[in-house]
Amino acid sequence: MDESQSSSANAGAGTNAAPSATRAPDAPLALRGENLVKRFGAVTALDGVSLTLGKGEILGVLGDNGAGKSTLVKILTGFHQQTDGTLYVDGEETLLRSVDHARSLGIECVYQDLALANSLSIYHNMFLNREIVRRGPFRLLDHKQMRERAAQCLDDIGVHVPSVDLPVERLSGGQRQAIAVARAVHSNAKILLLDEPLAAMGAREAGLIIDLLMRLKEKGGLSIIMIMHNYAQTLDIADRIMLMQRGRVTYEQQSALTSVAELMQIVQREYRAMRAGGAH
Ligand SMILES: Nc1ncnc2c1ncn2[C@@H]1O[C@H](COP(=O)(O)OP(=O)(O)OP(=O)(O)O)[C@@H](O)[C@H]1O
Ligand SMILES: [Mg+2]
Repeated sequence: MDESQSSSANAGAGTNAAPSATRAPDAPLALRGENLVKRFGAVTALDGVSLTLGKGEILGVLGDNGAGKSTLVKILTGFHQQTDGTLYVDGEETLLRSVDHARSLGIECVYQDLALANSLSIYHNMFLNREIVRRGPFRLLDHKQMRERAAQCLDDIGVHVPSVDLPVERLSGGQRQAIAVARAVHSNAKILLLDEPLAAMGAREAGLIIDLLMRLKEKGGLSIIMIMHNYAQTLDIADRIMLMQRGRVTYEQQSALTSVAELMQIVQREYRAMRAGGAH
């Protein structure tokens, strides 16, 4: 395949990862990053990454440890600011100043450590920092309404738990991840960023999250970027994949047009080239 062969050669040019060839040029984009660079002192974590995310699209980001995947997500979620490069949210040039700023634009992130309060109930977690309070002078929490709304929201997206009163610590890893995704979706996310949502999960638990992501996709209105490790799972879920190596995008393709074998070949070739070049 031409593209895979030329991809590594293009990687250093800073113009890699052009918008996907199979999307219509005027298709609406939820997000676009142009030549994003992030330096931490002497470390260049992102070295000119360009990416696009179409509305309703699921983009899978693959790559080795230290490739810059989490750094990219942290820029897209307003946690870090890029050293250089431009970000467009819904077509508007935007500098994301903070996580709250990104959130106000409908960008939500589910981090790997989840940030759920384990001793609190499912429904309370769903409304963490957004609690509903009753009217009146005492501003008491409206548990009844939060319970009902949480149950409704989980029901809407097909997440089944025995009771929304259960503390989160009683749930499995997969169920917890599902609650974290549900919470993000419930807060009207338009763009959902997931950093290794299936890490450390067994097949059954991973299946739960995969099904949830597929249902969210079918419902429409949500664009997703997910960092993944497993190539086969990524190709199953994502519409498109992007491979990152050493702070750059070295390959990008529609999932239907690539394969696990091809991705492994690209990674191996890069690895051999790096060793031959004596890098690191
Ligand atoms: N806050 C930071 N300060 C300094 N260096 C950092 C910081 N965050 C990330 N880095 C460095 O940037 C590079 C990319 O890290 P990043 O966490 O984005 O990789 P990753 O692709 O998510 O890796 P993994 O698969 O292990 O999660 C690494 O060399 C890392 O050490
Ligand atoms: Mg990471």
